[in-house]
Amino acid sequence: MTTFVPYSPAVEQVEPEEAETIRELEAAIREIQDTTAADYGSTIRGVHAKGHGLLKASLSVAEGLPPELAQGLFAEPRRYDAVLRFSTAPGDILDDSVSSPRGLALKVLDVSGERLAGTPASDGQDFVLVNGPAFGNPTPAKFLPGLKLLAKTTDKADGAKAVFSGVMQTVEGALESVGIKSPLIATLGGAPNTHPLGDIYFSQVPFRFGDYIAKFSVAPVSPWLTDLKGDKVNAHDRPEALREVIRETIATQGGEWELRVQLCTDLEKMPIEDASVIWDEAESPFRAVARITVDPQISWQHGTSEREEADLAFSPWHGLAAFQPLGGVNRARKPVYEQSQAFRGCPVHAAASRPA
Ligand code: HEM
Repeated sequence: MTTFVPYSPAVEQVEPEEAETIRELEAAIREIQDTTAADYGSTIRGVHAKGHGLLKASLSVAEGLPPELAQGLFAEPRRYDAVLRFSTAPGDILDDSVSSPRGLALKVLDVSGERLAGTPASDGQDFVLVNGPAFGNPTPAKFLPGLKLLAKTTDKADGAKAVFSGVMQTVEGALESVGIKSPLIATLGGAPNTHPLGDIYFSQVPFRFGDYIAKFSVAPVSPWLTDLKGDKVNAHDRPEALREVIRETIATQGGEWELRVQLCTDLEKMPIEDASVIWDEAESPFRAVARITVDPQISWQHGTSEREEADLAFSPWHGLAAFQPLGGVNRARKPVYEQSQAFRGCPVHAAASRPA
């Protein structure tokens, strides 16, 4: 019989130099945002700056979940309003011919229950995911050099910015994703230009899951979405290719995704403090706990969508105490996301805004 590792605060171990690492991560993100603010005359996200789709959605918790899955938000079958934002990893707004890992942020609105410190109910419950099963680095300290390099090189390209930054910005993708064997290959533009609607997205790092510990995933289930798996987007001379391909499908068909959880069954094989370890699905599979439904709609409208995404703030630290982010990478994200969002003038708690 499978046993699930119970959550206890003892599963986390803070590295001695973590506070200093976080300070340096904040400085690197701030440097990127200073650069892009000067380039664009407006403040944008420190990474995942370019949105490709902003969708009104609903999330329905599955009925009859077994006790180990009926945790936190998923304790009762219920329907919630939600928002989805598709993005790509760089902190610059690049042409889509520059291929980089894709992000998916989900905000479930009007959730109730005890909350993580400093996050009001209006923040909802966020899930912040990318299209690879594990993070490129085990700890925030190991992630730092790559982020510093990115910050230092962001504005050195002048006229050749698109090309140069195309190469350099995928450093972030390589570091923030992955599932790609060699971060260097991704760095050199090797992140596959997949269709964002065909990809499976992962939290990469672990969370408390009520009585247990889990990673999250969002996977497409509509046949017209799963058919897109592995499709490559032709972005040649199409700077907005990703917005276009998402819009083509969502405007006519909408789509459905499953929200899945992978419970930790062994702390040695599924560590909390090493974000680079892929938790083996043969040991513990991802299991569906809810369905995300998107009705046909316009997923990107120039002008309006930029304003709407600017008002939205996603963070793994927006949510229920039952889903507390775990491990060094997650601990580092709390102040870094807050700083990035404060810098871009986001209403501090912006969940109240939803796409019209
Ligand atoms: C120490 C590690 C990390 C750092 C320093 C970092 C930093 C950031 C920052 C500064 C933002 C922009 C926040 C804002 O202004 O709204 C962001 C957004 C984002 N991050 Fe991370 N991140 C880290 C790890 C991760 C991981 C592990 C994932 C997912 C598996 C991830 C996925 C995303 C996504 C999808 C967004 C865009 C959210 C949106 O749509 O607004 N990041 N990250």
